[in-house]
Amino acid sequence: MKIISSPSEINHLCNNLKLEGKTIGLVPTMGALHDGHLSLIKRAKKENEICIVSVFVNPTQFNNAKDLETYPRDLNKDATLLETVSCDYLFAPKADEIYSEEEKNTTFKFDFQGLDKVMEGPRRPGHFNGVVQIVSKLFTLIQPHKAYFGEKDFQQVAIIRLMTQTMKFDIEICPCPILRAENGLALSSRNELLTENEKQIATNIFHVLNESKTKTDKLSVKELINWVENELNAIQPLQVEYYEIVDGTTLQPISSWNETNDIVGCITVYCGNVRLIDNIRYK
Ligand code: PAF
Repeated sequence: MKIISSPSEINHLCNNLKLEGKTIGLVPTMGALHDGHLSLIKRAKKENEICIVSVFVNPTQFNNAKDLETYPRDLNKDATLLETVSCDYLFAPKADEIYSEEEKNTTFKFDFQGLDKVMEGPRRPGHFNGVVQIVSKLFTLIQPHKAYFGEKDFQQVAIIRLMTQTMKFDIEICPCPILRAENGLALSSRNELLTENEKQIATNIFHVLNESKTKTDKLSVKELINWVENELNAIQPLQVEYYEIVDGTTLQPISSWNETNDIVGCITVYCGNVRLIDNIRYK
């Protein structure tokens, strides 16, 4: 595996690979790689001739300085893991190489057509602008045929799909199912910040969400939201930030179970100081 940090070098490489007719699969990440990422990379390897993984803790998508500071980073460990799945190229730029002075001093703006008005959007101002800024930059530099994203970040996938359409990137967006530990905890780089005890407690997020699927014939949408929140808030140190049940395409909250056939429940829960997200499909 070759490690590249220069944006112009990766751009030059990808131009040549495309001239040679090679298909490229990109897995954008912020590092602290786990089995969830590896499942995306294995799929990218299977579906493309060349697999590129980017590792970049993108400062513009953090609305909280402490969160950026504590985000887990270990590039050597990531590189070793990537070797085990035969990744072809690791693109790991520095922030100074990615953003010009002008970009650092101006706020990137994107028209989300309402997709940013729910769930993570209002709670993390500027977050999705930063995500679109970096992902559009990676798409321009690498021009992959396919790009792979985990469905744990359900809203992010919807926004990247919209961005790909409106910015006219000729790239197939491939959402990949959430990978869970045997105990149900959704794999996430942030799990590294949990103590062993918190990791155990956090498994309740999945168990409660899963159990909620058996209650849709008895409880209204509003009642089910309250039930999930109450169940989880009763377990220390879990604190639900929001639970929203939305149309899986528009991300708008639904009010009755027969409103659409595409229904997803999206949750953010603090486990102590660690902010965890998860989701479950009702139909
Ligand atoms: O999901 C992530 O890890 C990040 O938001 C992404 C897509 C790599 C952009 O920085």
